[in-house]
Amino acid sequence: MDNLEPLFALYFLTSAYTIPSRRPGTPWSTWITHSRRWRRSSELLPFKFLRSVSYSPPTFAEKTLERQQSNLRVPLRYVQTGTDARGRAANDASNIQAQKKLQSKMKNILFIGGTGYVGGVILSRFLDRHLDARITALVRSLDKVQKLAELSKSGTLKNEFVVVQGTHHDGPLVEKLASEADEVFSLADCDDLGAMELILAGMKKRFEATGVKPILFHMSGTGALGDKAKGMFASTQVYNDLDIASIESLSATQNHRNVDLAVVAADAAGYVSTYIVLPGVFFGVPRGRLADLGVQNMQNFAWVIMYRASIGARGAAGIMGEGKNLMSFVEVNETVDMIDLLYDAIQAGTAPHGREGYYFIVTDIIALERLTEIVETRAGPRRPWTQAELDLYMPGATSLQDFFGDNGVAVSGRGKQMGWKPVLGKEELLQSIRDEVAQWKEGN
Ligand SMILES: NC(=O)c1ccc[n+]([C@@H]2O[C@H](COP(=O)([O-])OP(=O)(O)OC[C@H]3O[C@@H](n4cnc5c(N)ncnc54)[C@H](OP(=O)(O)O)[C@@H]3O)[C@@H](O)[C@H]2O)c1
Repeated sequence: MDNLEPLFALYFLTSAYTIPSRRPGTPWSTWITHSRRWRRSSELLPFKFLRSVSYSPPTFAEKTLERQQSNLRVPLRYVQTGTDARGRAANDASNIQAQKKLQSKMKNILFIGGTGYVGGVILSRFLDRHLDARITALVRSLDKVQKLAELSKSGTLKNEFVVVQGTHHDGPLVEKLASEADEVFSLADCDDLGAMELILAGMKKRFEATGVKPILFHMSGTGALGDKAKGMFASTQVYNDLDIASIESLSATQNHRNVDLAVVAADAAGYVSTYIVLPGVFFGVPRGRLADLGVQNMQNFAWVIMYRASIGARGAAGIMGEGKNLMSFVEVNETVDMIDLLYDAIQAGTAPHGREGYYFIVTDIIALERLTEIVETRAGPRRPWTQAELDLYMPGATSLQDFFGDNGVAVSGRGKQMGWKPVLGKEELLQSIRDEVAQWKEGN
């Protein structure tokens, strides 16, 4: 591409457009294909060859990224693409036409919450799977965006990757991103009805524009089963996702339920196919690209809060009532094994959706007091949290306050049918809590 420099000089002299400056050390080919202003101005060029290297107009996601990331050191296009289906570098100019063809067939998958404790494992696996997909991640932290840009630049990804900085409370942004997606993974906050309404509004637009139902994959949790036991008893009530009537008997006022019901109502309205997973509480060390890069949350926020509200200033292991309540749990990477199976079943058209589309992801159950025993080794003898302490350590998070004292016993009937066989159980959970308690430092 270095022999194009005279052409640039000629164009510069004859055009009212300004060609953007090249970053020192950036190869000419990269500059040509990665400069949006050049792309715009190249449309006016009389040179057919040069026109052929221009990109198609940027999508909303690309424009947003460009606008919001203008202060990043990494050039825009590096943030957007990895390698194509044959492993060719996406920024290779000779590959651009092939890419354009590929993109028209590619499905768009949007991740919201893809840098979370569980979201990071899911997104990592999707980036590694050969889906011929354009994967877009809405990420709120600039630091994480920058690290993901480095991942994209590594040229090791099997799918196209677009990173958009922003929050799921930004209405126009979320609606637009969702309206461009064939599949949306909602993994950020299962209590945020406002965010879900924005996602659904975008997906409705998608359906109206294409006539094809997009897919919504939403992560809820077994917190929806809570019974306000406040740690005082162990329940005998067991929920199974093969028994839809028992799930539908849950009140709309249960935690997470308002969002889950909005999701199911959207499926019933006919513009989207919805799948809701309800995992038990997670444990373990997340694995995958995002974990290796230090981009994703590496600890479960629920356990972090339990340690913080016990060790240190309070000086007593926290517990709800007597800690008799039974919690469903699952190892975080094994959770994603189940999600992989579910995703394959969705693609094969064999996974129920809508009012039947609930999937518990649970390995076993444990009483809160078993965990408290471990926290006592660092924090000192147990003392029940007062309401004032719950409000101090879990402000505004009533679903988390309830979670520590609730029973929520579930069985993964559908997972078993799909062949899901988790092996990490009670002993591994207890060991994981022992490790985290031993390593706990305030400010983690
Ligand atoms: N933790 C559990 O044991 C458990 C069990 C069952 C269900 N769940 C549910 O599963 C979901 C994910 O849980 P998790 O443990 O992975 O949580 P997490 O580690 O806190 O991750 C949440 C993700 O959402 C992102 N996010 C949060 N607020 C956002 C906003 N306003 N705009 C855009 N992105 C935002 C976070 O971004 P950052 O990367 O910037 O933090 C992160 O990527 C939650 O709804 C949770 O309630 C959790």
